[in-house]
Amino acid sequence: MIYVSRRERFCAAHRLFRSDWSDAKNEEVFGLCSNPQWHGHNYELFVTISGEVNQETGFVINLKELSLLIKNKIILKIDHKNLNTEVDFLKNKIISTENVAIAIWHELEKPISELGSRLHCIKLVETENNYVEYFGN
Ligand code: NI
Repeated sequence: MIYVSRRERFCAAHRLFRSDWSDAKNEEVFGLCSNPQWHGHNYELFVTISGEVNQETGFVINLKELSLLIKNKIILKIDHKNLNTEVDFLKNKIISTENVAIAIWHELEKPISELGSRLHCIKLVETENNYVEYFGN
């Protein structure tokens, strides 16, 4: 088994908050990320595939195809967007790094399997100090 990763980047705005909480409680729990006027991050998304090396190509997956798939399914929908209000697959979620990573997994798992590969991990870097990894369960 070998693992291959592709990095893509996007910039997006969000706000962490619960509408059933007061502004004070939102600020207490979510801090700066609860700013009612939104704020942005320069995200890095790492998509890792697992598989065996194809003896004909030497590849586990054609990274050009994987990059195109990630761009079409994810980046075009979220880059320079407000993640709280503009992205179908993030509707009605708290826009934490965890929830965004899980949602991206669900968007990519099937199309990656249709390429004949297996999604192993979604790693989403929100700041240089914070990132999450999701392995599908
Ligand atoms: Ni934030």
